[in-house]
Amino acid sequence: MKLTIIGTGYVGLVTGTCFAEMGNTVTCVDIDKQKIENLKNGIIPIYEPGLEAMVQRNVANKTLLFSTQLKDCLDKCDMAFIAVGTPMGEDGSADLQYVLKVAETIGQHMSHPLIVVDKSTVPVGTADKVKTVIANELAKRGAEIPFHVVSNPEFLKEGDAINDFLKPDRVVVGTDNKETAEKMRQLYAPFFRSTMDRMLVMDVRSAEMTKYVANAMLATKISFMNEVANICEKVGADVNKVRVGIGSDSRIGYSFIYPGSGYGGSCFPKDVKALKKTAEQNGYTAQLLHAVEDVNDRQKLVVAEKVIAKYGKDLKGKTFAVWGLAFKPGTDDMREAPAIYIIKKLTDLGANIQAYDPKAVHEAQEFYLKEVTAIHYASSKYDALNNADALLLLTEWKEFRSPDFLELKERLRQPVIFDGRNQYNDQRLESLGFEYHQIGKKI
Ligand code: UDX
Repeated sequence: MKLTIIGTGYVGLVTGTCFAEMGNTVTCVDIDKQKIENLKNGIIPIYEPGLEAMVQRNVANKTLLFSTQLKDCLDKCDMAFIAVGTPMGEDGSADLQYVLKVAETIGQHMSHPLIVVDKSTVPVGTADKVKTVIANELAKRGAEIPFHVVSNPEFLKEGDAINDFLKPDRVVVGTDNKETAEKMRQLYAPFFRSTMDRMLVMDVRSAEMTKYVANAMLATKISFMNEVANICEKVGADVNKVRVGIGSDSRIGYSFIYPGSGYGGSCFPKDVKALKKTAEQNGYTAQLLHAVEDVNDRQKLVVAEKVIAKYGKDLKGKTFAVWGLAFKPGTDDMREAPAIYIIKKLTDLGANIQAYDPKAVHEAQEFYLKEVTAIHYASSKYDALNNADALLLLTEWKEFRSPDFLELKERLRQPVIFDGRNQYNDQRLESLGFEYHQIGKKI
């Protein structure tokens, strides 16, 4: 099939590249000229394992093209995917201006029957808005061209997006048109060759809702476990054992019940807020979602609070090594990362930070910690430790899992670790002479 993907952000780029990989001819469109020039040369704007090589391969095969001219692309394609950003508006609702602008352009320029697919995470009712905007533009120029708007939310995880796209747990398609559903089935059939057909066709609003509910459910699991972890600390229980104890019940399951420093990233914080807002706009107060957010906001600072509990509120003259800045491993993304909040809190109290992250240092320096001056970025995880009073582990990158603890002891001023991701065995660390603070178990 010939596809146009509008928006070369995270979702658009992964979607376009994976469709190209399956033999479709894909043009990815963006208004950012520099970005498109770079992409034509195989330079991608984000870090995502496996993506760059796949882009380069498909560019070389001419199955993946890049353009700034949406109009030309619309003339040649069977489907147009809207994958532009839906940033959080000031009131917490998703800002639809980019989605609706694209809809307008489609309506102004489409020249033949088209399936328009909403890939962006959009609130319930957006497909109807997109439909209205396109229909209005067609009417303005007196054109009568049939089109269908489909909701096809993405469930990609950063750091594992290629895998998620190529081997999906499910593909959700919202449409009330049988032929459109059939076309979508043809498009996704190659992804189910080795598994059963996992395409779920439903009405448009349910599909739009599914995306938010999936993310809100996962965020709820995490906040629930973080709350449990905090209670465990108070009562002298070990959340690591409790986690295994409850996860073994197949109705609960082991995934997404790891306590830590709270969820971050672009999706959970934004989608929980947007769902809460949608509820509110429809006259319903979503109390549980409210609590999920509150618990998460508080959890982001738990590591900082543990540091303050040990050293006091005046941290002048103290230096802390930080391992991990990204909101999770496998990405350079720092949106809503706990590290931002923890580092700002500690430096506000006078501390110095020596930080190391395998991928996110650039993001920290340029954006998220730009105004923080009491921070030095080390070029290796061990260099970050030199003469620090303690190590704070904030992102569970694989390279932090099994460090040389003797080296840690040698470089740190004191053998103290605050682990915001529960990566180590406390008994082992204590036998090595470390003071080991973790989430959900009293020291
Ligand atoms: C998420 C969804 O998983 C994905 O389906 C959706 O399309 C986009 O949002 P992503 O934001 O990339 O993906 O990250 P994910 O791996 O889901 O982790 C989200 C956050 O939850 C991270 O901050 C992570 O550290 C945290 N988390 C995850 C926990 O604190 N505990 C867990 O048990 C699991």
